[in-house]
Amino acid sequence: MEDETQEEILAQFKEKRLGGWGLLQLTAGTGLAAYAVWAGILMPGFRRVPLKLQVPYIPASKRQVCNVMTLLKGRTGSLADLGSGDGRIVLEASQKGFSPAVGYELNPWLLRLARFHAWRTGHYGKVSYRREDLWKVNLSGYENITVFLAPSVLAPLQKKLLAELPEDAMIVAGRFPFPDWTACRIEGDGVDRAWAYHIQALRKHHRSSKDSKSAEQTS
Ligand SMILES: C[S@@+](CC[C@H](N)C(=O)[O-])C[C@H]1O[C@@H](n2cnc3c(N)ncnc32)[C@H](O)[C@@H]1O
Repeated sequence: MEDETQEEILAQFKEKRLGGWGLLQLTAGTGLAAYAVWAGILMPGFRRVPLKLQVPYIPASKRQVCNVMTLLKGRTGSLADLGSGDGRIVLEASQKGFSPAVGYELNPWLLRLARFHAWRTGHYGKVSYRREDLWKVNLSGYENITVFLAPSVLAPLQKKLLAELPEDAMIVAGRFPFPDWTACRIEGDGVDRAWAYHIQALRKHHRSSKDSKSAEQTS
């Protein structure tokens, strides 16, 4: 009897064709599900960040982390990872002696994961992960900055870093270089590559190109 009912239902399904309205519902449903994953898991906490500045989570590869650390060799002091994800760069930096080692991240799931990793590796209390928008953080206290962000946000970030960082600061970018800056050192290949920049050299270059532009205009 039950088998009969199931067969009847199956037959009814087979008879039904997906019309225009059905197709529209299916598309809307799929779109809504994709949005829910995006907003709820990948990008929660980003409501106040303008769309053009939103960067999704992609973890740095082991080789990328290693290249970033190689470029920071010989340096000490404070370090901030802007968009710290699951905290892997901050944790590695803390293990290499950077203190305070701080990660700024808006995704609460990733912050929990980062804190869990810190606790699991005995680094709880030595690192800190803050739920703050990297564009609103005052970076003037950091001697070392690491970033792995989308190329589209690196141009506006250049301005912020030039305006706020102390003179002896170093910036290391993973995967994508800053568009207008010349790196003092490069480490690794392909997607694992990392670029290092000295803020002092960048400011000097920035000033001299400004001077030559104004000299051209007056002549
Ligand atoms: C490409 S992932 C890099 C994660 C990590 N730094 C790593 O190397 O594994 C970029 C991270 O930046 C975070 N992020 C993007 N925009 C941010 C913002 N305005 N403030 C704080 N975190 C942000 C994202 O949530 C994401 O976790």
